[in-house]
Amino acid sequence: MNAKSLIKRNYEKHPEIDFPDYKSSIFRAPKNRKISFPSSNTETIGPIFNKNIIGKLDNDLTLNFSKNKISPLGHKIIVYGTVSDQFTNPIKGALIEIWQANAAGKYLHDNDENPAPIDPNFAGCGRCLTSSSGYYEFLTIQPGPYPYPNRGIEWRPMHIHFSIFGKSFGQRLITQMYFEGDPLIKLCPMVNSIRNEKAKNSLIGVLDTSKSNTKNLLAYKFDIVLRGIKQTYFENRKEGL
Ligand SMILES: [Fe+2]
Repeated sequence: MNAKSLIKRNYEKHPEIDFPDYKSSIFRAPKNRKISFPSSNTETIGPIFNKNIIGKLDNDLTLNFSKNKISPLGHKIIVYGTVSDQFTNPIKGALIEIWQANAAGKYLHDNDENPAPIDPNFAGCGRCLTSSSGYYEFLTIQPGPYPYPNRGIEWRPMHIHFSIFGKSFGQRLITQMYFEGDPLIKLCPMVNSIRNEKAKNSLIGVLDTSKSNTKNLLAYKFDIVLRGIKQTYFENRKEGL
């Protein structure tokens, strides 16, 4: 990837960084204007992940923390999709890491104050690398919604956190997937900090009954698009070679 090939992000489709309805965003948002500077190699040529770092159960959250193969509580789901750039080119070897609450809406984390039970057989973390066609798949448990303090107590919709490393640090994306049909999505100030309806909808995993029926599990499809490569060529060689 060449430094010039990263295309500017469309900030109209990204969340507002200081959104009054989401209290914490006001404390976290930078107060000074952003400064732009050219990408260096660090942003454009790495990292590249070796598939040997991935363990056999890393993408199976129903087993990767279970004791004696006991299933976590809740119903199992498949979450799958593709990672591509904005020109629909699949991105292979992208590292996808996910984390989520258990079926009761509780994270395995000391700072989680939700008075819901932890599940001793569920850590809520997983990872995988995309295949040559950009495909990924996780087996997990449907996460529960959970309360949190904001404008009084509010509820987060069911969601899974995603971190994706594309072909370069410049394609890094951290986002959340919601679940089709969840009535809490509309009420969530974090979702509503994204003004653009299409962008909002792109964060919703779609129920896929065709895949659900083949494995007796509900399946949700969540396709991810990262920043693209603008294929610019010299007369007889690729740009940057
Ligand atoms: Fe969360």
